[in-house]
Amino acid sequence: MSNPSLLILAGDGIGPEVMAEVRRIIDWFGDKRGMAFDVTEDLVGGCAYDAHGTPLHDDTMAKAQAADAVLLGAVGGPKYDALDFSVKPERGLLRLRKEMDLFANLRPAQCFDALADFSSLKREVVAGLDIMIVRELTSGIYFGEPRGIVTEGNERVGINTQRYTESEIDRVARAAFELARKRGGKLCSMEKANVMESGVLWREVVTKIGAADYPDVELSHMYADAGAMQLCRWPKQFDVIVTDNLFGDLLSDAAAMLTGSLGMLPSASLGAPMDNGRPKALYEPVHGSAPDIAGQGKANPIACILSFAMALRYSFDAGSEADRLEAAVAQVLADGVRTADLMGPDGGTPVTTTGMGDAVLAALDASL
Ligand code: IPM
Ligand code: MG
Repeated sequence: MSNPSLLILAGDGIGPEVMAEVRRIIDWFGDKRGMAFDVTEDLVGGCAYDAHGTPLHDDTMAKAQAADAVLLGAVGGPKYDALDFSVKPERGLLRLRKEMDLFANLRPAQCFDALADFSSLKREVVAGLDIMIVRELTSGIYFGEPRGIVTEGNERVGINTQRYTESEIDRVARAAFELARKRGGKLCSMEKANVMESGVLWREVVTKIGAADYPDVELSHMYADAGAMQLCRWPKQFDVIVTDNLFGDLLSDAAAMLTGSLGMLPSASLGAPMDNGRPKALYEPVHGSAPDIAGQGKANPIACILSFAMALRYSFDAGSEADRLEAAVAQVLADGVRTADLMGPDGGTPVTTTGMGDAVLAALDASL
């Protein structure tokens, strides 16, 4: 049997440097754990625009559709700010999500004990935090029609449309219920049913699925604005949160900050199962391309490394190897190894991106 295939799209900014560390970790699993992957690399985002005049070439799209999993670094940068909206680096990422139909975006927010003091919230509020936001990723206001900027009378109007079908709500809700069942058994659904019809429908569909198929999962509902407030007040009340595309974008950034650094958080975007039973999948760090520190060896590769751990768990049925990699990261942090983003006020000398990769590899070796 051939090896599973991985398409790597390192992208822009710090993407290539954090991905270089992931490549070494992928090789480690091949050498030491007999888990070899066929790795192909290609372009996405601004670098793809520079090469082909489009943030995602059709050939790259086809490779992504065929791969067992896609690993993405980051896209975007100030160099591309003036580009037409249709060819902005972000459009490459949005096209991947949409055409691969990656409707369930899993964004864990976990606070590593060693980093609890880095959060802007008090240690007792965040220590031990382990929540999972499931964000709908292929619909809602990001993609709804009509959209655009039109002229009405003597002024222009910007238009976007929030739109959710029952089946779109159904499939992401089921993904969230399944996760809740495997985790702490609690699901909180967030929308704004008080002002939006799409929220009314969202709440109805989620409630119905819960009662019919997941009576064992404790379901609650919150308006998304109150949810944002509760996330800052006492985040440990949550286990799994399910929400729409835009609210999920906002809530996951807020949740990320609870953990102390955006440089730590991975994500998985999952679609329907392929013929081989694996879900269509793309894994990427939650952080962006951080152009201000790109190319300086300062970036924290942990979010990207943990994204590969999610790939091991969700695409390659290797949960125990994912545990091994996550434990190696936790060990390195407990040992005090820090990239620049994790330096406390009391200082210390940060390691480089490669230095962090070295430390994780050493911890992996020690795990054998
Ligand atoms: C994210 C990002 C993207 C989004 C951008 C880069 C298009 O903020 O993945 O959260 O808005 O979905
Ligand atoms: Mg975002």
